[in-house]
Amino acid sequence: MQPVDSTFWVDRKVLVTGGAGFIGSHLTRRLVAAGAKVRVADNLERGRKESLADIEGQIEFCLVDLASQDNCLAVTAGMDVVMNLAARACGMEYSQSHHGEMLTCNALLGLNILEASRQNHVDRVLVVSTSCVYPDEAAVPIREEAFTGVPERVNEGYALGKIVAEQQARFYAREYGMKIAIARPNNAYGPGDTWDGDKSHVIPALIKRVLDDENPVVAWGSGKQSRAFVHVNDITRAFMLLIEHYACADPVNVGHERETSIADLLRLICHLTGRSPEFRFDPTKPEGAPRKSLSSEKLRRVTGYDPDTPLEQGLKAMVDWYAAHFTLARSPHHPRATSSPQGAASTK
Ligand SMILES: NC(=O)c1ccc[n+]([C@@H]2O[C@H](COP(=O)([O-])OP(=O)(O)OC[C@H]3O[C@@H](n4cnc5c(N)ncnc54)[C@H](O)[C@@H]3O)[C@@H](O)[C@H]2O)c1
Repeated sequence: MQPVDSTFWVDRKVLVTGGAGFIGSHLTRRLVAAGAKVRVADNLERGRKESLADIEGQIEFCLVDLASQDNCLAVTAGMDVVMNLAARACGMEYSQSHHGEMLTCNALLGLNILEASRQNHVDRVLVVSTSCVYPDEAAVPIREEAFTGVPERVNEGYALGKIVAEQQARFYAREYGMKIAIARPNNAYGPGDTWDGDKSHVIPALIKRVLDDENPVVAWGSGKQSRAFVHVNDITRAFMLLIEHYACADPVNVGHERETSIADLLRLICHLTGRSPEFRFDPTKPEGAPRKSLSSEKLRRVTGYDPDTPLEQGLKAMVDWYAAHFTLARSPHHPRATSSPQGAASTK
């Protein structure tokens, strides 16, 4: 992990909602290392307390449902900074058939936290949006101006929930002078991104299939669809820098331009795991936008930072982490050990 070279965080009281989740647990660890006093609020719907085990004594943990405004008011009280990562965030397989649920949950969480932060006079807030807010037709690498209000089709409900929070951030900045940063991250990956049945992201889903010795390994779509996967360490660093330098309710991409096709991703996972199954792509299943990568020009301009973890290096660490935790994921007693109904990996 790159060090944070700023004294901004020393002794700041920081709330990380969704801090037991994949990105949230990495962010919490980085904030603790930077000297912040961190409170995590999570209902453990998808997050796991074990992901914070190594810093357990250094943080305050609140088991709360942030769908309740009273709970949001309680956890934001006395905080200097609120970083809102709580969300219903799933892979495409689940997201594309649960638009209503995704819209309700994500809009509610976004609005509740902003309102509670306003009432409690929190100094700075991070709204974590998504690159799914961009239309499928946006030219790559996608720049922030490509936003039209019409999101990616397969993740429409999820993205609309995030768009509501982005818009409220702009209104609250204007009406109440709140300092709010808005981040639009692309597909994240890294240790801690567990396989989670039909809610899994594409990378853990494919790693599991390969390590399970499935043959053939089936992936959704043509295999030619490409994404620019961003390492979780790059994402958490960008989140902190945006709070420090650009809390002005103006969305910034958190990603890069280096695209990888799903077929090449699968080849790389096989190479790193030493397996050689046959691949099959199922073009009858949705694959999302044919290409997706984000321009990092604005992030570089406003923070001086460019996400730079090479995919092969990041994936190697993730495969090692996955292999080490694999017996857990396969155990019938593990909470995330149910099988994906379609038995194939989607693109998100
Ligand atoms: N992972 C990605 O590729 C990606 C890409 C773009 C944006 N994002 C955004 O980044 C953030 C973190 O994503 P993640 O991948 O770590 O997801 P995650 O599911 O691992 O983490 C979300 C956390 O929020 C918690 N949560 C959900 N509903 C809650 C509620 N009602 N009350 C309290 N806690 C609740 C969950 O238990 C979980 O720990 C989310 O806002 C997500 O939309 C993620």
